[in-house]
Amino acid sequence: MKIANFATEYFFAKYEFSTPYQLCNSDCETLSVDELLKMADVPLADFGRLSLGYTESLGNLPLREAIAAGYKYITAEDVIFLGSPIEGIYLAARAILEAGDEVIALSPAYDALVNMFEHVVGAENVRKWCFKPGASQWELDFDELESLINNKTRLIVVNFPHNPTGFLPTRTQLDQLVNSVYLHNLVLFYDEMYFDLAHQGTPSIPSVAELNPRTVVLSGLSKTYGLPGLRSGWLIVQDKALRDEIINWKFYTSICPPAPTEFLTTAALKVKNQLRDRSLAQIESNLKLADAFFARWPELFTWRRPLAGSTALVEMHVPSVEVFAEKMAREAGVLIQPATTLGWDDHHFRLGLGRAAFGAALEKFEEYLKMH
Ligand SMILES: Cc1ncc(COP(=O)(O)O)c(C=O)c1O
Repeated sequence: MKIANFATEYFFAKYEFSTPYQLCNSDCETLSVDELLKMADVPLADFGRLSLGYTESLGNLPLREAIAAGYKYITAEDVIFLGSPIEGIYLAARAILEAGDEVIALSPAYDALVNMFEHVVGAENVRKWCFKPGASQWELDFDELESLINNKTRLIVVNFPHNPTGFLPTRTQLDQLVNSVYLHNLVLFYDEMYFDLAHQGTPSIPSVAELNPRTVVLSGLSKTYGLPGLRSGWLIVQDKALRDEIINWKFYTSICPPAPTEFLTTAALKVKNQLRDRSLAQIESNLKLADAFFARWPELFTWRRPLAGSTALVEMHVPSVEVFAEKMAREAGVLIQPATTLGWDDHHFRLGLGRAAFGAALEKFEEYLKMH
């Protein structure tokens, strides 16, 4: 059975390792194994002694306990450690849905958060809950959600902090979402890959795992903690029957997590606040550069400042962002990601705010704009 092209990953496969000035990465600045182990005070020799045999399918107990400790009311039993974060989207789509079910998904979105669900229930059964362009930031109408729910709706799929808009709900909006899920007896798939990245001035919200047991929460170390090459991700699933369904699907995909990933994740969790602070500092400093840049080009862009996370969705007043982005990548080696790859229109692009080389890449972008 065919599935829609994964536009974002095709885009990165084409450009990520061949374009020097990148302005669209969603992950935060990474670090080496050596740096990570030093930070966590774990001797490198311990890593050398790690056995490369099969691992426990749900992740080893100390690791699941360390993950559970990051949430109130969650125990190791609720944690499924994955073979990669994206695996969690696949497993959830497979385990939760039956033919005839309807799904509500955000738009724009990271492709898998729409395409996987469309693949399982049919595109006609996935209703889009769309962001709206406010004057200075992206907005989402939580009352509209009620109008999208009908008696076939089974699942709501969200991702906050949101890639690409950088939207974060208020606590009131989060409660409204959780109440809707509860009242209509739905399941909520909540992607928290950018958890704990509220920007200065944005009130942070708790993990939804602490608010609603009918939620499947996806989290991991790729974005907030800058460790995407680790492929470290987990699901929090408190409903035992659903957890068992998900585990069964996991046996068909990754069986058990990679031993090096488990080892390095355990180290990273010891210093997770330090890793998060490092990412947030980078984002805040890049945001200042972005503010100044967009203030210099008011005719060309509409800058809707993100509230959280490591990405922003920027409106660009050109006939086609796709054509512009492709030309700029070829001529100047500067990369922006057209929003068409995220199910949105051809007048927006994703900006990535987590990388140390952001300032240098932004300078190249500006040089290119001045030349054209
Ligand atoms: C919202 C969201 N969820 C999940 C993922 C998947 O994470 P990973 O690439 O680490 O598997 C991404 C990656 O970009 C993402 O942006």
